[in-house]
Formats: sequence, C-alpha cells, structure tokens
Amino acid sequence: MARKIIIDTDPGQDDAVAILLALASPDEIEVLGLTAVAGNVPLDLTQKNARIICELAGRHDIKVFAGCDRPLQRKLVTAEYVHGATGLNGPKLPDPRMPLQDEHGVDFIIRTLRGEAAGSVTLCPLGPLTNIARAFQQAPDVIGKVAEIVLMGGGYFEVGNVTPAAEFNIYVDPHAADIVFKSGVPIVVMSLDVTHKALVTKPRNDAFRALGSQVGVAVAEMTDFFERFDRQKYASPGAPLHDPCVIAHLIRPDLFTGRHINVEIETQSPLTLGMTVADWWGVTGRPANATFMGSIDDTGYFDLLIERLARL
Ligand code: BDR
Ligand code: CA
Repeated sequence: MARKIIIDTDPGQDDAVAILLALASPDEIEVLGLTAVAGNVPLDLTQKNARIICELAGRHDIKVFAGCDRPLQRKLVTAEYVHGATGLNGPKLPDPRMPLQDEHGVDFIIRTLRGEAAGSVTLCPLGPLTNIARAFQQAPDVIGKVAEIVLMGGGYFEVGNVTPAAEFNIYVDPHAADIVFKSGVPIVVMSLDVTHKALVTKPRNDAFRALGSQVGVAVAEMTDFFERFDRQKYASPGAPLHDPCVIAHLIRPDLFTGRHINVEIETQSPLTLGMTVADWWGVTGRPANATFMGSIDDTGYFDLLIERLARL
C-alpha cells in the first residue's frame, strides 16, 4: 500500500526534483498535499513554485497550501544567491493555472492528521520546519498521530553550509527545529553528510537531459543552474541534490545508512545558531530521538531518480 505523505517545501530546484520523484512513484507514495513555507525564497514564490512543479508533472489535481511566511521567532533568511530570484531559476516554466488552496498550510496539516488513522501519515519537510512546529504548537493532539518525519536538514561531519556551524533549513528556523526534534515523533534526518555525497556530476546532469522529456530537460536546467554556485563554493564535481534524498528514503531506505542517536538544536549561541548537535559517538547519554543519516549509495540514488523521472 502506498505511504501517505505531506510534503512541506520551499522550492527551490532540489525541492522541485523531490516533488517530481514523489509524484512519479504512486505505487509507494500517495501525496496528500503540498504545504509551502518561506525559506529559499519568500512564501509568495514558494507556493507558486510548488504549483509550477505539480503542473510540470501533469498533476493539476494536487492540493497546494501556503503555510507560514516567516520563522517562529527570527527574521526570514532566504537563499536567492543559490536558487536565483524566483527560487526556480534555470528552466522557463509557465505560470501555474491550478489554484492555491484557501486553507492555511498549518490548518491543512492539522486537519489531515486528525482525519487519518494514527500512524498513517508521514511528514516530509524539505525546508525550514516552521509549518510543522506551528502545527504541533497549535494542536498537540496531532503529534502522536504522525507516523514519521523524514526531513532534509542539519549536518555533523559536514557541519554547516549557510554558516560554519549550521545547515540552511535548520538555521532559518532553529526554534521550529527545536520543537520538532523534541516532539517525540520518530525522525529520519537527511543531513549534509548524506547530501554532500549526492552530487549532480556532468554525466548525471546529461542523463536527466537525455530523458528528452519536458521533465528531464527542466530537471537538467534546474540542476545546471544551482551547480554554478555550489561547484564554485565546494570545488567539487557537482552540486549536492539535497531534498530528493527524503523521498528516495521512502522508496529505497536501503540506499542510506545512519545511526539512531540524540540530536539537539542550538537556539542560543549567535556563533552556532541552528547547529544540529548530533551525538554520533554516543558520548552524552542523552536519549536517541532521531535516525541521523550519514551515507548514501549515490549511484543507486541517481539510478532511481532517472528511472522514476522517466515515467513523467
Ligand atoms: C537545503 O537548503 C535549501 O537551499 C535546499 O532546498 C535544501 O532543502 C540544503 O541546505
Ligand atoms: Ca528545500
């Protein structure tokens, strides 16, 4: 039976590929809805981008909701320098025709979790954790109903990408991340330790383009765009394709390895704000609250992406 998920997202080219991977995998995944959050770019763009991507996949029927337009306590920090002014720079894609839903994204998350059987819905956050934390604050009764949270965020060996200590999604809203990591819900973390091993090298980019479809070419153009920034920054053979790791884990968990450990979020120090303090070596005695992924079969990951995107 397909797993029911809500994708909480701030597209973002890598978010876009994650959404496409989910929509291309109906045997394993049933997308109940997309909730947009402010992150890579402001909310008016992330909600629009989410609809653009659904239409690219030919899925005008997917419900897209706008959630929170700013972090719980801090000012919004965005990443146009990585993703471009629209967040989806690269391909030329038409403005969406499908409507944005009237309901607030947080209300949708709460209503859905209340309406579905306990333990039947997985949350897949691909951006700052503001919407999820707000839902848990507003309706603590839904916390126990979540099957699992599989999220992209954090890093231990790779530490940070937006500051020396913090990964972008956690840094943008560390207070929300703190609430989520303390919620007691089983969490799988796709950290930078994983995603920095999932590089879109030239042959992989060529393989997306060689699909020849609208989706394949758009994905190649999207990954081409943020390659420029990341390649320069990391001097690596390609940019990390972060967010699809979350969806890939739902389909092929065997591609990833990690440890069930304690992970705490730094919310105080100006120097290390948003750091995921991951007890990888088990030195604190603090209880495990997350499965922190550290490595990936990157060949298997890109094979899966190509195989699935070819279906769209
Ligand atoms: C994360 O930040 C965003 O820029 C990407 O979409 C990804 O979710 C990587 O740090
Ligand atoms: Ca993202």
